[in-house]
This record gives sequence, structure tokens and C-alpha cells, in this order.
Amino acid sequence: MLAIIGGSGLTQLSTLEVLRREVARTPYGEPSGALTFGKLAGGEVVFLARHGYGHTIPPHRVNYRANLWALKAAGAGSVISVASVGGIRPDCVPGALVVPNQILDYTWGRAHTFSDDLDMLVRHIDFTLPYDEGMRRRILDSAHEAGEEVIDGAVYAATQGPRLETAAEIDRFERDGADVVGMTGMPEAALARELELPYAAINVVANYAAGREASAQSVHFERVEQVLREAMLRVRNVLTRLCRQ
Ligand code: HPA
Repeated sequence: MLAIIGGSGLTQLSTLEVLRREVARTPYGEPSGALTFGKLAGGEVVFLARHGYGHTIPPHRVNYRANLWALKAAGAGSVISVASVGGIRPDCVPGALVVPNQILDYTWGRAHTFSDDLDMLVRHIDFTLPYDEGMRRRILDSAHEAGEEVIDGAVYAATQGPRLETAAEIDRFERDGADVVGMTGMPEAALARELELPYAAINVVANYAAGREASAQSVHFERVEQVLREAMLRVRNVLTRLCRQ
């Protein structure tokens, strides 16, 4: 079964034929909301809204461990994250869909591992390629079949939030090699790897990152909502095609 974690702009999957909802408890506390089980284009899917169904949980307060643990316990065999980002690289313009292949982690203070007990054997997961290549390929192929343009490969900078960045921070991220910037990519990707859940992401560019193009003086939120609404329709097309495979 495929798990979909929806971020800003995707708190619901309207194309999902909902079968049941389940409130899950985990050793790490409660996930962001009830797990929604359903069918998408005939394929079994479990959906979770990362920020809660009312979008009330800020990125640094998301219980990433509970979310991943609950999805795995519910029978998920792989995970696709949908998350909005700011665009740094010139082709990552608002509305673009991006399938990242690398991560830079600038977050701090988040519960970022299941290997956290002193009486446990320490596990060092391999994270050379943070996203599962097979899952990335499935997304890219589905997008191609659905006729939706996606950018293959980008370095995702995970920032703490919830505030947006300064222009100088974005300059620094770019010097580090970042192409897009978001607030929820980590520790989610690493926790999925710890649980051996193949994980990949579809990033939706909501805005130019701070200091760039139309965001030269400030990031305009009015535009962001409309861009996300339109782009999420395309994300749904990709996901529907992916479930049909
Ligand atoms: N920065 C960080 N996270 C984001 C942005 C941004 O500009 N846009 C959407 N998520």
C-alpha cells in the first residue's frame, strides 16, 4: 500500500475514494491526524495530512516519528511526500513540480531518529541517496504518462521555519548547492529510511525564495495560495496515474 503525506495545499485528496479513517497511537505519540484509507484509481492508499486536517501544526511541531511509524504500522510499503517549497534555482519557478534527489538539512531541535534510547544499538543508516530511486522513477514516469511536466532532480534545503528565510540565508543555501527550500523534508526522509520505507517527494514551488525575482523585497502570500491550488491539481493527476500502474 502506498502512503501519501500531504503538505500545505494538499490537506485532502479529493480524488480519493475514502473507505475508512483510523486514529493511530504510536510509541512516539500521536500522528498529525487520523489516517485516511481509501482507493485512488483502484490502488490502495493511506493518506495523512502532515500539518493536521485543519492545518494547525507548524513544521517544527509535526510529530514526524509518529507519522512515519503509524503509516508503517498501518501497512504502508512506500511513501510519497507532497510538500510546497520556495524556488532558488532559476528553473524552479512558482507552479513548477520538482522531484528532488538530494537534501541539505538546516533544521534543529526536531526528534530526528528512532535510534534515541541509550540501551539501544546505534544504527547508522546509509543516506547517500536520501530519496528512493525506484520511487522517484515511478513519480517521473507517472508524470510523463499524465502529460505533466516535472523537474527531475534538485537539492532540497530543509529549513526550520516557520518563518521564511532572509535573502542572505537563501544566498547561503544556494552557495551550498540548494535548488529549493522547504520546512518539512527533514527529518521525514531520514525517518522513512530508518523504517526501511522507500520514500520520495513531489515538491510544488509555491513562490520564489526570499530575495529572488518577484520575492526581491518580500514573499507575497496572496499569490502563493493560487499557485498552490493550481499546481495541486497537477500533483493529483500524477498521483492518480501512479496508482493506476
Ligand atoms: N521557504 C521555505 N519553505 C517554503 C517556502 C519558502 O520560501 N515556500 C514554501 N515553503
